[in-house]
Amino acid sequence: MSDHNQVNMTSMNYDKDRPAAANPVKIEDLTLRDGHQSLFATRGRTEDMIPVAEKMDEVGFWATETWGGATFDTMHRFLNEDPWERIRTLKRYMKKTPFSMLLRAQNLVGYRNYADDVARAFVDRAAANGMDIFRTFDALNDYRNFETVVPVIKECGKHFQGCICYTMTEPRMGGEVYNLEYYVQKGKDLEAMGADSICIKDMAGLISPYDAYAIVKALKAAVKAPIHLHSHFTSGMASMSHLKAIEAGVDIIDTCMSPYAYRTSHPAIEPLVMTLLGTDRDTGFDIRHLADINEILEKDILPKYRHLLDDTKISIIDINVLLHQTPGGMLSNLVNQLRQMDALDKLDAVYAELPKVRKDLGQIPLVTPTSQIVGIQTVNNVLFDDENERYKMITGQVKDLCYGLYGKTAVPINKEVQEKALKGYERGEKPITCRPAEVLEPELAKAQEDVKGLAVDLDDELIYALYPVTGKKFLKWKYGKEEPPAEVKAKTMEEALAEQALVKKALAGELVEKRAKDVPEKSENLRKFNVFVDDEYFEVGVDSTDGTPMVNYVQPQAAAPAMAPPPPAVPAPAAPAPAAAPAPAVAPAPAPASDAHGTSLNAPMPGMIVKYTKQVGDSVSKGDTVVVLEAMKMENALPAPVDGTVKAINFASGDSVAKDAVLCVIG
Ligand code: CO
Repeated sequence: MSDHNQVNMTSMNYDKDRPAAANPVKIEDLTLRDGHQSLFATRGRTEDMIPVAEKMDEVGFWATETWGGATFDTMHRFLNEDPWERIRTLKRYMKKTPFSMLLRAQNLVGYRNYADDVARAFVDRAAANGMDIFRTFDALNDYRNFETVVPVIKECGKHFQGCICYTMTEPRMGGEVYNLEYYVQKGKDLEAMGADSICIKDMAGLISPYDAYAIVKALKAAVKAPIHLHSHFTSGMASMSHLKAIEAGVDIIDTCMSPYAYRTSHPAIEPLVMTLLGTDRDTGFDIRHLADINEILEKDILPKYRHLLDDTKISIIDINVLLHQTPGGMLSNLVNQLRQMDALDKLDAVYAELPKVRKDLGQIPLVTPTSQIVGIQTVNNVLFDDENERYKMITGQVKDLCYGLYGKTAVPINKEVQEKALKGYERGEKPITCRPAEVLEPELAKAQEDVKGLAVDLDDELIYALYPVTGKKFLKWKYGKEEPPAEVKAKTMEEALAEQALVKKALAGELVEKRAKDVPEKSENLRKFNVFVDDEYFEVGVDSTDGTPMVNYVQPQAAAPAMAPPPPAVPAPAAPAPAAAPAPAVAPAPAPASDAHGTSLNAPMPGMIVKYTKQVGDSVSKGDTVVVLEAMKMENALPAPVDGTVKAINFASGDSVAKDAVLCVIG
């Protein structure tokens, strides 16, 4: 750094002598969204944000990210929380700091392009509920997907932040597609669309410090809008990239409070505050105030989430990202998917297949949802392809991509793959070249009609419009039409600590001795929890009849919710009452009716039934889609294995099924 950044701090009083910086780096805090999304599977509950909200409002952040990304999905699906309510609640505690959300452009907060009417209504309601800054990105960097949402953001008087998804095909920035000219041109495109600021969105932690410097320098020279850097720590480079970006004149940097920082999240704010102390880019933040907030997070909040932290590896960085140029979250999804299918030994084959699939699909950036699209298709290819046939099971989303429904890919899609994917595709076999949402029929009125009598306002209707299956389920919980299952309820600190102590004992083999003592009667207050430890899980019963959680039993289970679990690696304690035998987390496949002889269509992977496209009695030809199964958020159209008549259908829309469950019988 140049001389004017050097201030003699050795004899200075931290408060009195700290000079105001000429050009302070502005900070967006991501703790309440990307932080827990990256480290704790987006499971952070609003009630656990309130204890720090007022203090965080005092820090002086340029913005705090409170919504978007996976929060909308996770909240209604797994936490039984109304996503809209979170914005309104946090706003009561954070009155000064602008709220920022991550908006997946025409994908909104879902995984597909929604129709224009839904997109307009969603942005309008987000603004009305308290959102101030709309960090907008498109997975393909196809800004035609911004054309609907941006005018609504502007009409609402809100801040439009345009993103450039950072991706690469080479070990460093460059090559034929994602080079410096590409990023500068994207910056100019965003400015022409009226971007109030421009964000380089490095979701995989791929940007190296000198490339960050080069991009920021070039963008600062090419556009007037402030430049913002979002870089995940995953590969270990982000702290260095932040500093080089600051030297190049970046305006805004994204960080997390230290308990929510590093690993696949973002660098922490505290070291940056001290790094810049006394320089012309000093944040001006009070490090002691930050420490107070951290203390609350560490002691009162995070023990409840600790079990979600992936501590299977000692290293906190993932050098696979440097080797494969692939988002860390995507890799962990792949590992989970393979594990669920008992195919972890195929991981190397997946690594080898992934760049091929990506290239076939137009060398698209890897960010939600394209990272899932490429990831699941890669897994499908590795598991189901053989020497005679490639792309044997093509997901619905890959078909959509090949049709042009996500937008224009960076390079053309492999013609052969495209033709195969679009054979019999419901929208047509000839791909489109227009703005994707132009081919989508309005969706809002139909959604409103579907949930008439259940939804009470537009916010409710949008939950359903975005997530028809789980959204409807949530609305039933919300309005008391259905009892929410125990697993969506919040865990108390006592329960969390009891579970952790118990798992420790179980692993140490001490639980068996404990069982020799009197076991109290189980009351109706008994609540069951699944506790995951590496590849094993324990079902833990917590009973709080007298206010003290009492553990009744621990039952080791197979990790995958398979119907026939392999023998557990940890010795099971003597079974308690047989009545307490835990039910698998997924619906078991009912045995086919006795008259339903024929060929069964089995689930090739665990997932959720989206819909059956045929009914009992319908005749089908081999290869016809019979059922659509959602696995890892991708829809898989499962074909009839034989010609015949549908004899039995064993599940309904919304049911979770295990791998190999008999979905239907054709005879
Ligand atoms: Co991120």
